[in-house]
Amino acid sequence: MRRYNVTTFGCQMNAHDSERIKGMLEELGLGEAPRLEDADLIVFNTCTIREKAESRLAAHLGLAKALKDADPGRLLAVGGCFAEVQREHLFEQFPQVDFAFGPGSIAELGEWLKAERNGARGSFGSGGERRFAAELPFRRERPFQAWVQVSMGCNSVCSYCIVPTVRGKQISRPAEKVLAEVRALAADGVREITLLGQNVNSYGRDLPAAERVTFAELLRSCDRVDGVERIRFTSPHPKDFRSDLIAAMAECESVCEHAHLPAQSGSSRILKAMRRTYDRERFLSLAAEMRERIPDLALTTDLIVGFPGETGEDFEQTLSLVEQAAFDGAYTFVYSPRYDTEAASLPDQVPEEVKRERIERLIELVQSIAGERNRARIGSTEQVLVEGPSRTDETLLRGRTRRNTTVNFAGTAKAGELAEVRVENATSTTLRGAQVVSSPA
Ligand code: SAH
Ligand code: SF4
Ligand code: F3S
Repeated sequence: MRRYNVTTFGCQMNAHDSERIKGMLEELGLGEAPRLEDADLIVFNTCTIREKAESRLAAHLGLAKALKDADPGRLLAVGGCFAEVQREHLFEQFPQVDFAFGPGSIAELGEWLKAERNGARGSFGSGGERRFAAELPFRRERPFQAWVQVSMGCNSVCSYCIVPTVRGKQISRPAEKVLAEVRALAADGVREITLLGQNVNSYGRDLPAAERVTFAELLRSCDRVDGVERIRFTSPHPKDFRSDLIAAMAECESVCEHAHLPAQSGSSRILKAMRRTYDRERFLSLAAEMRERIPDLALTTDLIVGFPGETGEDFEQTLSLVEQAAFDGAYTFVYSPRYDTEAASLPDQVPEEVKRERIERLIELVQSIAGERNRARIGSTEQVLVEGPSRTDETLLRGRTRRNTTVNFAGTAKAGELAEVRVENATSTTLRGAQVVSSPA
């Protein structure tokens, strides 16, 4: 049997797409090779969000080249966002690549292999009509957790971001298709679903009027599906986070008390240059409304430092936003100029050493606030979905709370079960605890 190996870079949408790539390859009779070295077909599902993503990929492509030089029968396919954005230059730059495909044409990897057009090296998926990866066969990594794609593409025009160029305009999946998938997953034993979209809460806007459903309504429908105990979604955009969505989060029992709400900056001036369409005040009032309506909410975010023209004062505003919003966690990024984005050609690019200094200060503040917030949970009991053994200590189990914090804990629960865990210790990113086994009444 021929064997494949898939390496995934980038965001959760790529993780979702890789499960489809694997599913499709298995339907074609290939088996998984745990190591790259043992694979007849090497697939890289790539990301291009920041320059760093590309340098990591270049290292992998170098390794794949060495493997191909040793055994020219091997095939190398490159999918995802880097492939899409580089389609003109990919084969020139990396002659070791046999086949490439964008995120909207994953099915074509299967078609290419099936047609045994493997001789047609240096070919690219048609890039014709984009198809939902969600509709392809899949192989899920965890039996009890699943991604559910609700839309593809993004209609925003954030001036730093390459995603709209790569993934195109937003197309929403009809609600019945999303719900049918959620029901099938529940029947299959899935307990936690994460609804995915580049701008997940702009879901539905592009659907024809007769079948238009808002994201809040979709969330409520998912909540009514029996068997699904936890619903998450990512990433929402602050501009579309309205009161109906906050109400749905507050009222739906299975929707978790966590929102990942990317702020990007705390300076209204920079937010405007980023074309985020909200300002500092609007973000903070939204955060306050969410915290008020959803007790126990964990609020996490994405932040960028060193956007062109960001002054020391703008950066101080980001620091003070972190304090005021009291984020439970944040992904922090150094601004990275991307091909053909508006921001890449702005004057006043911030020098590297200034970016470095700012990100260090930002990380320190984020960690200190997150640590404080996590330590406030010591003594409480949290519901944890068990994911398996702890990564750092085999005698412990690992899982996540509804607020999406990782917990390492002593206990006897099995992967996929919900356990009650008493929190005993905390860092800025993880909790420590022990399972509470309720005594029979
Ligand atoms: N669609 C999602 C996430 C997009 S990418 C959203 O809008 O919420 C994830 C994060 O990468 C973004 O939130 C942003 O913080 C960061 N990012 C995107 N482009 C970037 C760039 N050019 N440089 C640095 N960080 C970037
Ligand atoms: Fe990029 Fe903005 Fe779209 Fe997010 S909303 S994917 S940051 S353009
Ligand atoms: Fe990267 Fe594409 Fe996701 S650029 S972050 S893999 S949408």
